Amino acid sequence: MTTKQAIICNKWNYRLNNNYKDESHKENSKRSYLYFVQEKQELVSSKCLATEWLIEDLANSYLTIREYFAGAGVSTIIFKNVIKPTEHVAGDLDYECFNQLSSIEGIKSLHEDGHKSILKNEKFDIKVCDFPKSSIIQITRGLWSNFLALFMSKPKYVIWTDTSRTYPISIHKEKYEKILQQEINSYEEYFEAMSIWLKINTGYSISKVAYRGKNANYILASADKNILQHKYFTLEDKYEGFVWK
Ligand SMILES: C[S@@+](CC[C@H](N)C(=O)[O-])C[C@H]1O[C@@H](n2cnc3c(N)ncnc32)[C@H](O)[C@@H]1O
Repeated sequence: MTTKQAIICNKWNYRLNNNYKDESHKENSKRSYLYFVQEKQELVSSKCLATEWLIEDLANSYLTIREYFAGAGVSTIIFKNVIKPTEHVAGDLDYECFNQLSSIEGIKSLHEDGHKSILKNEKFDIKVCDFPKSSIIQITRGLWSNFLALFMSKPKYVIWTDTSRTYPISIHKEKYEKILQQEINSYEEYFEAMSIWLKINTGYSISKVAYRGKNANYILASADKNILQHKYFTLEDKYEGFVWK
């Protein structure tokens, strides 16, 4: 199989199994993340810069890490190089993503349903859920509510993705306010309120939120005393975080 190579954050090599399939005819939610990585370079680039910032304080911590929605392994490469984990397990439901994860040296890959695996209550220092779609609405109901199980094994850090910002705050404002029990007029207020909600429900709070473009947010939470930091990553520096060689 041929491979395509990229460089992440000007530092780390990434190799993608190059079995490109045109999925432009499929709905967004049905497309493999491997297709996304090849078609949305500016979003992947900004995600890489955001992820590096999110975990920079954990550099060389040698903590163990478990990723449940690890996709094409782009974040996996960042976690591996920044944290230098002593154990690193990453899984995905998509078979081609699983194959891609299997090609990354030094990690154990799994073909799994992340929602079910979360319930296994595994012992890891860091648990990561790069959910394809999530907000306080999804994580408080239905399948996504397994989210709260992430905290049961008392990991040092939990990292997850929230995509509520895909919509203007006004669209789901009332639902957010009902769940979070306070007035919400901006996404900064939404994450501050989510941190309080999380503290009440799990004892953890949010230390960092990285805002990527206009849709995804990457969140870091721990059981420490946290003062929430917000940082914005635009799509303008599009070639700094992820560059094809
Ligand atoms: C945003 S992508 C992850 C990207 C990844 N962090 C990376 O950097 O390459 C979300 C992933 O969740 C996967 N996924 C969706 N539902 C899943 C499930 N129930 N169990 C495991 N993975 C799932 C998708 O296949 C997709 O690869």
